[in-house]
Amino acid sequence: MTGRRVAVLGGGRSSEHEVSLASAASVLAGLAAAGHRPFAIEIGRDGVWRRDGAEITVTPGRGLDGAEVVFPVLHGPFGEDGTVQGLLECLEVPYVGAGVLASALCMDKVLFKDLMGQAGVPQVAYRAVREEQLRADPDFVLAGLAELGRPVFVKPCRLGSSVGIVRVLEPGELRPALATAFEHDPLVIVEAGATGLEIECSVIGNHDPVASQPGEIVLTGPAGGWYDYEAKYAAGGMELVVPARIPEPIRERVRALAVSTFKRAGCSGLARVDFFVEGDEVLVNELNTMPGFTRTSVFGKLFEASGLPYAEVLDLLVHLALERFEEDHRHAY
Ligand SMILES: Nc1ncnc2c1ncn2[C@@H]1O[C@H](COP(=O)(O)OP(=O)(O)O)[C@@H](O)[C@H]1O
Ligand SMILES: [Mg+2]
Repeated sequence: MTGRRVAVLGGGRSSEHEVSLASAASVLAGLAAAGHRPFAIEIGRDGVWRRDGAEITVTPGRGLDGAEVVFPVLHGPFGEDGTVQGLLECLEVPYVGAGVLASALCMDKVLFKDLMGQAGVPQVAYRAVREEQLRADPDFVLAGLAELGRPVFVKPCRLGSSVGIVRVLEPGELRPALATAFEHDPLVIVEAGATGLEIECSVIGNHDPVASQPGEIVLTGPAGGWYDYEAKYAAGGMELVVPARIPEPIRERVRALAVSTFKRAGCSGLARVDFFVEGDEVLVNELNTMPGFTRTSVFGKLFEASGLPYAEVLDLLVHLALERFEEDHRHAY
């Protein structure tokens, strides 16, 4: 494929701003290595889009600053949740990754689990709690949550990078944990704690997505920890073991579930699907439509270990974005 002008969006309004900038820098370098002509557009914490320091103006229907493809390397709210994808649709420009609906769905932990539950996808038991519900009838809500046993994980419904998540071991910790999660989102999910290994699997493709080798997240902190913000981003906080040290049939189950989950959620381009594996039980935890994307992030490393180098992954994603755009425009509406 000839080199394309690719606008790489980085930064954004969410708490994952810095993480996104690091991912975007790697994507820029990788696209250039693959023979494309990438340029950076940085989205400030204030939401303003800038290219080389100058504010960008857009006109619906007129694309984005001459880009042939846009790569929104944005994590979390206002980037990975369908909002930016909606803007890109209005601009009439091809873009990498999931469209509006799949982005929004996968960002919403409750809706995602509800939908996967209907399809019989194995996952932990969970309850959704609205702030006003808890205020109106705390005894009823807390009694429902007690049925999940212990520990539970209390999470803002629409966030990432473990921000706002609390693991609750004792009943007395539940109310403060809920208060913490409600600082980020009026909707909170409380999940039964899963045991076992954390396994992650990358997926790439549109109609016929392909799964990477699954990898195993090994935390290097004190025993009994979980994959919190610190473990995710502190140097040496975790080690990725590829392939995951699970029996071959379980590895294949993970890969098959990663692909079927990707399809069920209506994803395109890429995703990283995360699992809990205990013995022969495989539970889907979540699907990230724009996972961390530095050269050393799990997404790329899993494909690297599966024989697809970083620059080739990026090249394929550009191709898939163009393919989806052309297909979408073949339909009458
Ligand atoms: N139900 C659960 N059981 C056990 N560990 C959990 C559970 N939910 C979350 N965790 C831990 O918290 C981490 C972050 O949770 P996750 O739902 O993946 O949120 P995020 O979208 O912020 O990555 C997981 O990687 C895992 O270590
Ligand atoms: Mg996660």
